[in-house]
Amino acid sequence: MKADEPAKKQLDALVKLLDRGRDHDALSRAARLSRKYPDNLFVLNIIASAYGKLGEHDKAIRVFESIRSRDPEIPQLHHNLAISFFRTGRLNEATTAMKEAVRLDPLNTTLQSNLGAMYLVGSDVMGARDAFAAAAQLAPDSPDAQWNFERMERAARNLRKAALIVEDALHENPNDPVLLCKAGSSYSHLGDPKSAMKYFQRSRELDPDSPELYFHIGQFWKKNKQMGKAVQAFERATELNPSYSDAFAQIGSILKKAGHTDRAINCYERVLEISPENVEVAHFLSAMKGETTDTAPAQYVTDLFDSYASRFEANLVGDLEYRGPEVLRKMLDAALSDGARFKAGIDLGCGTGLSGMAFRDVLDHLAGVDLSANMVGLAEEKGVYDRLTVSDVVSAISDSDVAFDFFLSTDVFVYVGDLEDLFAAVRENAAQGALFVFSTEDLEEGTFALLPSGRYAHSRDYIAKMCDRHDMKIVDFGRHPLRMEFGKMLVGGYYILRT
Ligand SMILES: C[S@@+](CC[C@H](N)C(=O)[O-])C[C@H]1O[C@@H](n2cnc3c(N)ncnc32)[C@H](O)[C@@H]1O
Repeated sequence: MKADEPAKKQLDALVKLLDRGRDHDALSRAARLSRKYPDNLFVLNIIASAYGKLGEHDKAIRVFESIRSRDPEIPQLHHNLAISFFRTGRLNEATTAMKEAVRLDPLNTTLQSNLGAMYLVGSDVMGARDAFAAAAQLAPDSPDAQWNFERMERAARNLRKAALIVEDALHENPNDPVLLCKAGSSYSHLGDPKSAMKYFQRSRELDPDSPELYFHIGQFWKKNKQMGKAVQAFERATELNPSYSDAFAQIGSILKKAGHTDRAINCYERVLEISPENVEVAHFLSAMKGETTDTAPAQYVTDLFDSYASRFEANLVGDLEYRGPEVLRKMLDAALSDGARFKAGIDLGCGTGLSGMAFRDVLDHLAGVDLSANMVGLAEEKGVYDRLTVSDVVSAISDSDVAFDFFLSTDVFVYVGDLEDLFAAVRENAAQGALFVFSTEDLEEGTFALLPSGRYAHSRDYIAKMCDRHDMKIVDFGRHPLRMEFGKMLVGGYYILRT
């Protein structure tokens, strides 16, 4: 070991922290180490990876780019950079970086497969086909190869074609239980439960002790809303493989929804014993146990909204009668004189842009920020933002050199419990007399709490305390409907603050 390099033990410890999901610890330790060994690219890579896991993708990109400028020949670096670009919705740059990774390491099947996956997301089916074909040529015996093609067809919503690929494979190996199980899932996706069950049963005859088979059967029953049968199948999967954390997580989630909190807690505890990095389960475990954490994990929020984005508006506005932006706008109109305007606004947690639409006409310039690239992609389509960033709200304000005179945030603090850092960032970056306009889920007593729903609620007293600490005043406050939850209208706390 050279004296100007960190000890291997220190580097291993950093990797371990990341593997265990202790991303903040990994980041602060790596940052300390990097001050001592500024040229160590491994440590920088840990810093970038930790930023990525914390949802701070712009910072991750900056660090990856600085590594690239020192050594542009590391394929894995381009791969990581590509993933960060991808997470911020910068698909073209992501694909370019992934192509560079493939150029530097053309015999790496994972890189080829991931390039194919990126082409798929960009709806470049031909590009995907070529990359997947290259991956298949590199590893013709790898079962992954044909499944890339199957995935390609599924992603293109060619469910029938995807099923045909499985059928083709089955034709060659009619008694392969794994293929029969895949066929079952494929027909389940196609909405053909009879064929699905037929394949699952044949698979079970050939391999009655496959935990994966029972997992897929569990998903099949869950899709068909037969929760008792789903739990039985997932339980069988965990009997056959006691470390099957995804199966425990499925059981926990079904029990939680059915109100069996104690049993759900047991399941989730088991998940965390096996997979301590599962941040979603960690979050809901705290929520169910009534333990209030400071904030929802960034990775959980990102994954949740990335997968929910396409259904968000139909569900929230349509089914759940969401009122946030409209109620706040009415309050603002009542509080301000006619014709009041603002120069620079920022919509914190802009989502698909519903608040941007509601307030755009009083703003000369509007920025939007959100952790979820897919939500930001939909916000972009609305054309109401001058600038959109995929980032955490606090970093977005702190990293900006604009003095905003209008801060807006609707239904976002439900994922941010402790508002101290956010209020401090707003105060720091506020123009003279700026407004801070937002909604909360209202908490009658105490400060803020993580509710069993996995969302935070904040009391008016807590917001008043934040105002005292950060030199702001409550101009208006009201309790009004927010959105439906379990058939009841939730009460929101609506605030207009002046800085
Ligand atoms: C319920 S949606 C509300 C979206 C939008 N404000 C509206 O009213 O329609 C919550 C949004 O906040 C985003 N979000 C939650 N925590 C965040 C954070 N710390 N930084 C940035 N965005 C966040 C989520 O990704 C999601 O898009």
